[in-house]
Amino acid sequence: MGELPVTPTAPDRADPPAALVDRFGRVHRDLRISLTDRCNLRCTYCMPAEGLPWIATPDLLTVDELVRVARIATELGITEVRLTGGEPLVRPDVVEVVARLAALPRAPHLSITTNGLRLAALAAPLADAGLARVNVSCDTLSRETFQRLTLRDRLDDVLAGIDAARAAGLAPVKVNTVLMRGVNDHEAAALLRWALADGLNLRFIEQMPLDPQHGWNRAMMVTRAEVMDHLARAGFHLTPVGDRGSAPAEEFLVDGGPATVGIVGSVTNPFCDACDRVRLTADGHWRSCLFARTESDLRSPMRSGADDDALAEVMRGEVAAKQRGHGIDEPAFVQPDRPMSAIGG
Ligand code: 5AD
Ligand code: SF4
Repeated sequence: MGELPVTPTAPDRADPPAALVDRFGRVHRDLRISLTDRCNLRCTYCMPAEGLPWIATPDLLTVDELVRVARIATELGITEVRLTGGEPLVRPDVVEVVARLAALPRAPHLSITTNGLRLAALAAPLADAGLARVNVSCDTLSRETFQRLTLRDRLDDVLAGIDAARAAGLAPVKVNTVLMRGVNDHEAAALLRWALADGLNLRFIEQMPLDPQHGWNRAMMVTRAEVMDHLARAGFHLTPVGDRGSAPAEEFLVDGGPATVGIVGSVTNPFCDACDRVRLTADGHWRSCLFARTESDLRSPMRSGADDDALAEVMRGEVAAKQRGHGIDEPAFVQPDRPMSAIGG
C-alpha cells in the first residue's frame, strides 16, 4: 500500500496571500485576462465597422506566457480569473488555456465573458476543461436591432450559445446588457421577462467612455436610475439585496425574489472603493484599472529571460500605484489610450 497523498496547497488555498495591495488597502483577488483584441461582432459602441488595428499575432501572449503570468498572480493572491477579449472564444487555443489554468497548483475560479457566438460549439469542452461560469453579452432580443447594433445577423447564435452553456452546467448564466438611448432602452423590461423565464441572471451595465471613436456622451448614457425607472414602470418591484462587496453589480430581488436582477452603475454609482480587479492585456501588459493611464509590459521581460520574482515585482508595483477611482466625472478625466476591446472587459 502506498502512502496517502498529501495536499500541501490546501491550507494556503484557504488563506491566500495578499501581495497585490494598493495604497488604499484594496487587496486584489480578481484577474481579467484578455485573450485577444479581435471580435466577430462590431457592436457600434465598441468598434468601427472596419475593425481596429489589431495586435499583431507575434505580440499576443502565448498560452505558456499567459499561464505563467496567471500562475504568478495566483501566488500573489489572485483567486478568480476571468477570460475576456475582444471576443475570447475566437482564440483557437481557448480550451487549452482553460485546461492549463484549471491545472495550476492554486487553481483559480474560472469564468469567461463572451458574446456567445461560438458558445454552442465550445460550452461543453470549456466546462470539461474546468470553466465554472460564463457571462454572455446580449443587448437586445430583436433580430433587427441586433443586426443594427452589432452589424452582424447572429442573434440566433447567441441564444443557442446561452442554451448550450446551461446544458453544459455553466450555470447560472449571466447576461450582460448595455442599454443605449433610442436603440434598445425600450427593451429593458422585455429582457428581464426573458431572463426570468429562462433562469438567466441579467445585469444592466452603464456604458463607459472606453470606445475607440471617443464618441461617449454622458447625456446619451442610460443610467442606473433610468433602468430602475423603466423596470418599475413595467410593473417590476425591485428590492436591494444586501451588500455588494467587491461585486460591481448591485443586485435586486425581483418581485420579492428569489430571482434577482443586477445593475452595474459603473459611471453614476462606481464601485472603485471596493475594486479588487487587475488586468492582463492580450499583448502582455499588466494594468491596475480599466481607466489607468499607465501599464507595465510583462511580455518584453518574459521574452528576455526575466525570472518569476522580477515579474512579480512589476505586478506588485503597478497595483501599489493604482488610482483611487475612474474619475470620469472629474474635469481632468482623459479616456485611456486603449479601447475596451484591447484592455479586456
Ligand atoms: N461600457 C460598458 N460596457 C461595455 N461593454 C463594451 N464596451 C462597453 C462600454 N463602453 C460590455 C459589452 C460586454 C462586456 C464585455 O462589456 O457589452 O457585455
Ligand atoms: Fe476599479 Fe478601475 Fe474599475 Fe474603478 S474603474 S472599479 S478603479 S478597475
